[in-house]
Amino acid sequence: MRITFFGPPGSGKGTQADRISTFFGMQHISTGMLCREEIDSGSELGKRIREIVESGQLVSDEIVNKEVLNRIESVSDFLLDGYPRNLPQAEYLDRFLEIEGKPLSGAVFIQIPDEEVIRRLTRRLVCNCLGRNRKTDDDSYNEGNTCPVCSQVFRRRKDDSLEVIKFRLEQYYNLNVRLVRFYENRLLEVNGLGTVAQVSERIRKELMIWE
Ligand code: AP5
Repeated sequence: MRITFFGPPGSGKGTQADRISTFFGMQHISTGMLCREEIDSGSELGKRIREIVESGQLVSDEIVNKEVLNRIESVSDFLLDGYPRNLPQAEYLDRFLEIEGKPLSGAVFIQIPDEEVIRRLTRRLVCNCLGRNRKTDDDSYNEGNTCPVCSQVFRRRKDDSLEVIKFRLEQYYNLNVRLVRFYENRLLEVNGLGTVAQVSERIRKELMIWE
């Protein structure tokens, strides 16, 4: 199965992509994660994209398309998380997959209201477990506490300030209408409210039709 997860910031794309890709045995490819890893590597490219990511803007299609293509060309089953994010990326992906003879099975649109986006993102903490940005919803941890697993300090993502969250939401609304239209014939809309387990179960059931 080859699918993409899209939806507003904080809708749970990453959280659900981790669980669903494991369940169905798909490669999980998160463009947000790829950007953050590039930044953490200290490379020239990372330096260039740091400012873009931290301000909530989008990295150029050229960079993101290339990164995704490198990862999907050798795998047959994958779950894209946060990509495509605009119409040119969606068209680029479809063209590439058509040439490869492995079309996208469909797109999962996870929806939550703006108040929930703000509630989740203003309390999100991340560390660097296993070299990945990991998050915790455990309210007993505060910014500056140490992660018991990786011993790194929990911090907030720079793009999780209220001002940047609002900007990301605005950008999402500007771009998303066209994405929904583009995928209308292979779209699954999922309510992202409820516990993580409840949302996973909802997505899993729906995805059985593409299995
Ligand atoms: P990215 O990391 O993809 O940011 P995003 O789309 O804004 O999504 P988030 O990571 O904030 O949220 P999410 O939906 O994954 O939710 P999560 O599971 O974390 O991208 C970051 C940046 O990279 C972009 O701004 C851009 O600069 C660049 N970029 C990325 N892709 C790009 C592209 N295609 N083109 C160009 N640039 C690109 O959950 C959020 C919080 O809620 C967590 O704390 C989680 O634990 C919690 N949570 C999850 N589910 C639940 C639940 N059911 N109940 C309660 N809490 C929950």
